[in-house]
Amino acid sequence: TLAQTKVKAIKAGRLIDVVSGEVLKNQIILIDSNIIVNIGANLTIPKNAEIIDLSNATVLPGLIDCHTHITTQPSGDYYADIFRKTPMDYAVTAHIFTKRTLEAGFTACRDVGAAAFVDVAVRNAINNGEIVGPRLKVATLFIGSTGSHGDLNGFSPFLSWQFPKQMSGVADGVDELRKQVRYNIKYGADVIKFGASAGVLSEEESVGAPQFTQEEMNAIVDEAKIWGRKTCAHAHGTQAIKMAIKAGVASVEHGSFIDEEGIELMKQHGTYLVADIYNDDYILSEYGKLGYPQKIIEKERLVGRLQRENFEKAAKAGVKIAFGSDAGVYPHGWNAKQFFYMVKFGLSPLQAIQSATINAADLLDWKDKIGSISKGKFADIIAVEGNPLENVSILEKVKFVMKDGITYKNELKK
Ligand code: ARG
Repeated sequence: TLAQTKVKAIKAGRLIDVVSGEVLKNQIILIDSNIIVNIGANLTIPKNAEIIDLSNATVLPGLIDCHTHITTQPSGDYYADIFRKTPMDYAVTAHIFTKRTLEAGFTACRDVGAAAFVDVAVRNAINNGEIVGPRLKVATLFIGSTGSHGDLNGFSPFLSWQFPKQMSGVADGVDELRKQVRYNIKYGADVIKFGASAGVLSEEESVGAPQFTQEEMNAIVDEAKIWGRKTCAHAHGTQAIKMAIKAGVASVEHGSFIDEEGIELMKQHGTYLVADIYNDDYILSEYGKLGYPQKIIEKERLVGRLQRENFEKAAKAGVKIAFGSDAGVYPHGWNAKQFFYMVKFGLSPLQAIQSATINAADLLDWKDKIGSISKGKFADIIAVEGNPLENVSILEKVKFVMKDGITYKNELKK
């Protein structure tokens, strides 16, 4: 059958096997439409195959970012972003960000919170081949309590949040929360995201305080489970992290103030840590200029530093790590800048790459489809010049991107 269909053969100078950690030399990857059908050093390339020569490059599986907000990024004016935009604005520009993300080598993302189901529309348009972007699993509305990180705080009670009730994930109490989970799933959520603790880029006090009771968190996770969905929790605070783990979340996002006990709990429960440890740089250098309130920038100063130190403790203790950068807080397409910090704070370059490939695929329940260059998986493949196991920042300059067997970028063509 190989001879009948359009086969592609990638000649890979070096191939990173993210499962074994080995670097294989001079491999041939055979791709039949969108599926990897064979990999090896001595394969016969079918006569009609299209040959993609990456023999001077390092080839690895497409990268996966488990924490993006791909429908938005700061436009340069804090108040305009909050008060002068509608979900229609996000809907018309999201395709720019999805394309940038894909061209940066991220062939899949988990998008963890978007307005008005724009994320569902974007995911579907990508799946239908109408716009270009990574494979997406989306969370739809961020579920948060009244006054939480998911609400709009700091303004007059006579101003209301920009979305009507059915477009808001603000919910309180077990019954409302169960209904909110069902509502999100009804309209397309692949995963459920809720705010276990306060946040940085929002005006409520304290980044650490829990924002739901244990009973509420349990209800969210349980309801999601009934509908076959995993849950992830935005959690900076020490106590909120533990509450979320006990509730049974698949991943803790941010994890900034995690302590020893939290680290132990994550290991016991097999919870993934998805820590956005690059964006502190961007927030501290740019957000003052964007007009963000000083109070928010002060919160960032505290969180950014501690989050990196605590990430290192968690990483060294052997907590499962999946790559997630909070792209959208900083410009889309810069996702790979986080690798440098992951290596600076406790991971080997291989572990950092695994966090964004095989581990991320596991968290997203896509381990049988993506996350490694293996027989039977989708052909999501990237390449860089040089060796990212020696210098992980090379991943900031991805030169070749294939998703689902289609080449979207090739700067290595001779
Ligand atoms: N969305 C997150 C929040 O507002 C961003 C945190 C960014 N800062 C950091 N150090 N990770 O809480």
